[in-house]
Amino acid sequence: MMDASASLQELLARHRPGHSLEQAFYTDPEIFQTDLEQLFYRDWLFAIPACLLPKKGSYVTHKVGAYGLIIVRGQDGEIRALHNTCRHRGSTLCHASSGHVPKLVCPYHQWTYELDGKLLWARDMGTDFDPSKHGLKTVHCRELEGLVYICLADQAPDFDAFAATATRYLLPHDLTNAKVAHQSSIVENGNWKLVWENNRECYHCAGNHPSLCRTFPEDPRVTGMSEDISQLPPVVADHVKRMEAAGIPSVYKVAESGQFRLARMPLLDGAQSYTMDGKIAVQKRLGRIPYLDAGTLLKFHYPTTWNHFLSDHSILFRVTPISPMETEVTTFWLVNKDAQEGVDYDIDNLTKVWIHTNDEDREVVENNQNGINSPAYEPGPYSAVQESGVIQFIDWYRTTLGQRLSPVLMAAE
Ligand code: FES
Ligand SMILES: [Fe+2]
Repeated sequence: MMDASASLQELLARHRPGHSLEQAFYTDPEIFQTDLEQLFYRDWLFAIPACLLPKKGSYVTHKVGAYGLIIVRGQDGEIRALHNTCRHRGSTLCHASSGHVPKLVCPYHQWTYELDGKLLWARDMGTDFDPSKHGLKTVHCRELEGLVYICLADQAPDFDAFAATATRYLLPHDLTNAKVAHQSSIVENGNWKLVWENNRECYHCAGNHPSLCRTFPEDPRVTGMSEDISQLPPVVADHVKRMEAAGIPSVYKVAESGQFRLARMPLLDGAQSYTMDGKIAVQKRLGRIPYLDAGTLLKFHYPTTWNHFLSDHSILFRVTPISPMETEVTTFWLVNKDAQEGVDYDIDNLTKVWIHTNDEDREVVENNQNGINSPAYEPGPYSAVQESGVIQFIDWYRTTLGQRLSPVLMAAE
């Protein structure tokens, strides 16, 4: 449990700049619950690629904290998110992780809902029963160039500013004409913030990621990037200029709040894609990128997703906290919807580098969590050279949580 002598506000306030967080942030059930309530239940969260729901009636289920959700493509082709809780006595409606249905039928007493959540049929409920008051509760849902985002809050924060910026960068990658070639989910026995901290630096890459390091530049001046092109090493500056000249948005953009970032960087030594030989993995390419060696468009959007958009395929990662020390990481490999497996791409060649990398990351995150669990742990210093991305993530986390907790505390006084 949290240090009884220190409130969460005090813990946030006494944080040593440039250092990792105190143990409780990675272990404490109350802080985990606060993370869910103040971040995951309030922000826009990446949920799935839209192409995971190819037809009317295609659905997937997803869980965010205590909320069970159904994400479904309706008869009108729109994707919606609904609470997976029946309006009769609350049973879970859809048990499968995905499927295809004409209507949503509760398995308990067969209340039957339209794909948009409207209650269509309920047996023997009497003449004064009003079906229109018993539709499934909806969750905010937006589709952004093939990416489905959801928000659990009653009042969703603004999505348009992010959408306007991200749309420009995403358009050339044409995710609306993609299909999911492969999907994997692993559970890492570590706090969700450790998963992010590990993602936001490549200090660990040389020692842990032999496959990724064939193509991914671990030089922090390349991966760190900057809005000011003159500050970039020539290899990155030239790459950004070349891509921008070809009409492909590439310049580093970061949200004022620090919540998201978009930037394109070259891969190592002219590599084209994240494969063992550095060549493209998919011959029928996804998107309209004019060069094979276009590098990768990096996007992160706290708290649930980081992505790599390449010249031939795209990779989406989704972070879902399960408990204080368990986090699910789901990876979607997207390819051109017309690309044929065995002809245009080989699944093993397409997925090998990131399946290895994810597993290596799982191991380092779990080792990190285990060490932090010791009473001997104390926050250690981040490398300003190598771990500026981690510092940026921790700053965003502390600032966002602090701002959101302040009104709650003030109202309680
Ligand atoms: S709980 Fe769903 S029909 Fe009864
Ligand atoms: Fe890693």
